Amino acid sequence: MAKWGVTKPVRLLLIGSGGQVGGEILRLGWPVPVDIVAPVRAQLDIAHPMQVTALLKEGMFDVAINCAAYTVVDKAETDVEAAWRLNAVWPAVLASETGWLGIPIVRVSTDYVFDGSKPGLESDPIRPLSLP
Ligand SMILES: NC(=O)c1ccc[n+]([C@@H]2O[C@H](COP(=O)([O-])OP(=O)(O)OC[C@H]3O[C@@H](n4cnc5c(N)ncnc54)[C@H](OP(=O)(O)O)[C@@H]3O)[C@@H](O)[C@H]2O)c1
Repeated sequence: MAKWGVTKPVRLLLIGSGGQVGGEILRLGWPVPVDIVAPVRAQLDIAHPMQVTALLKEGMFDVAINCAAYTVVDKAETDVEAAWRLNAVWPAVLASETGWLGIPIVRVSTDYVFDGSKPGLESDPIRPLSLP
């Protein structure tokens, strides 16, 4: 542990641990001791910002990973408002809340907005191949 400059277990908030990516992260081996808090949606609904704020304030987290997302891609084309809320609005709220509290956050999103022609940067122009 000392090799990494870590003297106590890292407290990690993992949101969306019931999903594919969250479940894999939950099973990862870590190079340092990690104390993972992984609420399922019934315990923490990110669409309810007050729940999120309360947990963040009480949790003493060192870092957070958000894997919760609206992932039913076909339905998202008609259920636009719900998809936008879950994939854009609430992650922004979460980023803002964690920012105030000084908690670094990782947001797992999609790379399907790029054309895949090269390893890219977030600032690259979007060009999803699914669009004509
Ligand atoms: N899977 C991949 O191969 C892959 C690859 C690249 C990027 N990604 C990105 O990674 C992210 C997660 O993808 P995934 O495949 O893990 O999706 P997933 O299996 O559909 O999991 C999404 C998770 O989000 C949770 N969730 C949905 N609404 C919520 C809410 N209001 N509050 C709290 N939790 C909520 C779901 O909870 P319930 O279980 O209760 O529904 C589920 O656990 C997405 O942004 C996706 O684009 C995934």
